[in-house]
Amino acid sequence: MKIVVLCGGDSPEREISLISGNAVARALSKKNTVFRIDPEEKDFVEKLLKIKPDCVFIALHGGKGENGVIQGFLETLGIPYTGSGVSASAACMNKVISKKILHSSGIPTPEFIPAEKNKIPKLPFGYPCVVKPANLGSTVGISVVNNNYELKKAVDRAYKLDRDVFIERFIKGREITIGIIGNEKLQVLPPIEIRTKRKLYDFTAKYKKGESIHVIPPEINKRFLDAAEQYAAKVYKVLGCAGCARMEIIIQENGDMFILDVNTIPGFTPLSLLPDAARHAGISFEQLCEKLIKLGLERCGKN
Ligand SMILES: Nc1ncnc2c1ncn2[C@@H]1O[C@H](COP(=O)(O)OP(=O)(O)O)[C@@H](O)[C@H]1O
Ligand SMILES: [Mg+2]
Repeated sequence: MKIVVLCGGDSPEREISLISGNAVARALSKKNTVFRIDPEEKDFVEKLLKIKPDCVFIALHGGKGENGVIQGFLETLGIPYTGSGVSASAACMNKVISKKILHSSGIPTPEFIPAEKNKIPKLPFGYPCVVKPANLGSTVGISVVNNNYELKKAVDRAYKLDRDVFIERFIKGREITIGIIGNEKLQVLPPIEIRTKRKLYDFTAKYKKGESIHVIPPEINKRFLDAAEQYAAKVYKVLGCAGCARMEIIIQENGDMFILDVNTIPGFTPLSLLPDAARHAGISFEQLCEKLIKLGLERCGKN
């Protein structure tokens, strides 16, 4: 097959995307003819049209690559691609929208209020709380704040990066991530507990070797983990995800759980969580990439 791997892009996660794209291209080139293209190249469209790929593997993280824009562009050209379609990509990339959809389906996410510029809001929950830009990833622009002064500073900072900012209740608990692969029929991958000594699972913890560890299986009550797997699968269905996604969930001591984040194009770097979970389920990195191509073709009606 002729496959284009899209990587790079103009989001703050560009560097990670280049690493993901290289790894994916290497894996897929065993069985396919692979071309790597960066949508930031001036002749991106010409290149793509000239190659006429059977499928595009989107290894872009954040921004246009993950929010439905690139997906819609490929849809218009009639080129099949990996991962979720336009609407699920858009819904998952905007945390306020995905939280509203999940809330309306009875799926708990941490309580939140919109943040207003230059205004200290009356919080329905106490400190600490979390200030988040709605449309970014990789913990960019996220702050945990402990008082009004920090809150105002964090909101101003987040508004420099995004036009939607919200304030969320801080949830104390253990953080796990659950990867899911599939379109109609889902394969839930083994949960991974994320541990870091840093305050948050932030950019450094995510991408610097040794700054976080993956605990598989998590040292958490098995009953809670089983519930989290079902919970993650429900989130995947409600948001209309396809191909794969990786959910982040905080489990509290009493077993209450909250979904924090849904990543429709999770990292595909050697340190990344979804490939690690797949490996523990007996799926090699190469098999994972091939599977995502197959699911992409299936979703686009080409298989
Ligand atoms: N409400 C919260 N309570 C506690 N920790 C949080 C909360 N929101 C985010 N975090 C921490 O910040 C990290 C990044 O937040 P997340 O919502 O996943 O944003 P991103 O899309 O940037 O990854 C999480 O992995 C978690 O460690
Ligand atoms: Mg996250």
